[in-house]
Amino acid sequence: MKDQFSIHKMKKEDMPYVLKIERQSFKDPWTEGMFEKEVGSDFYVVKRGENIVGYGGFIAVFEEADLINIAVSPLFRRKKIGSYLLNFLIKKAKEKGVEEIKLEVRESNKIAQMFYKKHGFLEIGKRKGYYKDEDAIVMACVLK
Ligand SMILES: CC(C)(COP(=O)(O)OP(=O)(O)OC[C@H]1O[C@@H](n2cnc3c(N)ncnc32)[C@H](O)[C@@H]1OP(=O)(O)O)[C@@H](O)C(=O)NCCC(=O)NCCS
Repeated sequence: MKDQFSIHKMKKEDMPYVLKIERQSFKDPWTEGMFEKEVGSDFYVVKRGENIVGYGGFIAVFEEADLINIAVSPLFRRKKIGSYLLNFLIKKAKEKGVEEIKLEVRESNKIAQMFYKKHGFLEIGKRKGYYKDEDAIVMACVLK
């Protein structure tokens, strides 16, 4: 995995590739402006050679962090790229002193819920009306 794929901080020039995957992945995709705010923060892209195949990030506030986005290009799913990225984000968060990571996921997004469960996240609640058309499941993982 490490020979073929690499992880880098997201740069402004990555934006068109990230936006393309975002639009292929979500009903309510982030806009360019939303991503631009994350440049320079804990937001990363996964590259295969020079091509961006996934991205994701977190926002840490003291010992807690929110996973803000994670997606893999549809052509590259189920090849452990998401796992590679999530493990990297967890490692980075730990380095910052984070003890717990939380996230919101659409109630209908069973694939993402299975993905997070596989990585030790547990369902801890629900946020009614979090999305325009759907509730969110809140998941959390205590970092060891
Ligand atoms: C969720 C997502 C990031 C997973 O990335 P990925 O690279 O395909 O995932 P991995 O290959 O690392 O999968 C790891 C584990 O997650 C689970 N999983 C992933 N995709 C799955 C699927 N289609 N069906 C069932 N389980 C799945 C499995 O347990 C898998 O392990 P296994 O392959 O050994 O069975 C990817 O499906 C995606 O981009 N989805 C659209 C965006 C999204 O919903 N993001 C989450 C927002 S909260």
